[in-house]
Amino acid sequence: MRVTIRRPAQVGGDVRVPGDKSITHRAILLASMAEGTSRIADYLDGTDCRATMDCVHGLGADLTREGADLVVKGKSFRQWKEPASPLDCVRSGTTMRLLAGLVAGRPWFSVLTGDRQLLRRPMARIVDPLRSMGATIDGRDSSRLPPLAIRGGGLKGIRYELPVASAQVKSCLLLAGLSAEGETVLVEPGVSRDHTERMLRARGVPVRTNDLRHSLRGPVPEVSPLDVRVPGDFSSAAYLVAAALIGSTRGVTVRGVGVNPTRTGLVDALTLMGATVTLENEETAGGEPVADLVIRREDLVAATIPRSLVPRMIDEFPVLGLIATQASGQTLVSGAHELRVKETDRIAALATQLGRLGAHIEERPDGFLVEGPTQLQGAVVDSGGDHRLAMTLAVAGLVADGETVVESAGCIVDSFPGFDQVMERLAPGAMVWG
Ligand code: S3P
Repeated sequence: MRVTIRRPAQVGGDVRVPGDKSITHRAILLASMAEGTSRIADYLDGTDCRATMDCVHGLGADLTREGADLVVKGKSFRQWKEPASPLDCVRSGTTMRLLAGLVAGRPWFSVLTGDRQLLRRPMARIVDPLRSMGATIDGRDSSRLPPLAIRGGGLKGIRYELPVASAQVKSCLLLAGLSAEGETVLVEPGVSRDHTERMLRARGVPVRTNDLRHSLRGPVPEVSPLDVRVPGDFSSAAYLVAAALIGSTRGVTVRGVGVNPTRTGLVDALTLMGATVTLENEETAGGEPVADLVIRREDLVAATIPRSLVPRMIDEFPVLGLIATQASGQTLVSGAHELRVKETDRIAALATQLGRLGAHIEERPDGFLVEGPTQLQGAVVDSGGDHRLAMTLAVAGLVADGETVVESAGCIVDSFPGFDQVMERLAPGAMVWG
């Protein structure tokens, strides 16, 4: 699948984005381990979350789609059955890392696998602490890479300092802590997204957070079922924010977006760059803050992105790199080494692909430097199977001269099914898919 883009006369309108990917994964996992029926409204039906659905089905949960709702008939996680075949996490790192924490707590054998892209992603970050808790785990390349073979059970709580600020690692260990004897204490080097903590607390599990320290005392007897509405995904809205800021725009409003402060680092970065993203109609839904984002075109200036923002906008760096091409001066991103172990090496891939469009972008070991503003030139670019790269490049096509072709754009459905329709509303006829 490829998308061909021509710059439209204008970008603008009022749209919604699909449900948040991180929250949907967690809601499915927690619903499947709770005895009874849970309803997850406005869930994300993307490829990554479908992988989580298939895995929990393999563990004994029953899932039915009812319009925009996912209805999950779960079983107490103590009644989960040993899976008869490997659990396929497809391309979803979140599925593999969070599920590993859960199955490590159960007294049986399981194998977590995925497709080629996922089999390259580092797992020592969860294997090492899960082993310290008592799980037996094996994997490729001295257990650094999946597939992972896990013999779980008999876990004990540990005190662990995470080497990287990672919500996936934190969530994996909190979920393992549900089955562990004693206290699990985690200390993060920076603030990462806190959806797991919020959702566990809402299910009656006392997770304590004190600044960067999170703790939980296990074993937790039961987790209660949930009835939750998933807010729109801020990370998906980020592409529309970018289109509004850099395109020739009459303004874009994105309704019902999750604005959990552990996710909105991009808003802070854009404020430093002279943009205003206004939050309107703020409310709380399912324990998460939600708002409409209102964006207008602005003259952007370059900024040095503070390292403290990095974990709060970890998925938004490809699109920030694009926005920086339209800002005057040098935008510097550093302290973002984690970008090298996402769906692709996002530093290298971004520099190569934006470079093909004429951007002045220089790769750094832990980030990148962009010099702007630049009039981008249409070219053939490739997402390398990375949904966030694909959407960034498609939005780049909205401001480039001539025609931009993004190859391997099918992966957009991993996180943003319906991206094509949303873009059609904002910029009719600008993107042609096929
Ligand atoms: C996620 C956490 C982030 C993020 C990923 C989703 C999550 O990864 O990049 O897209 O749902 O917990 P890390 O926690 O590894 O940084």
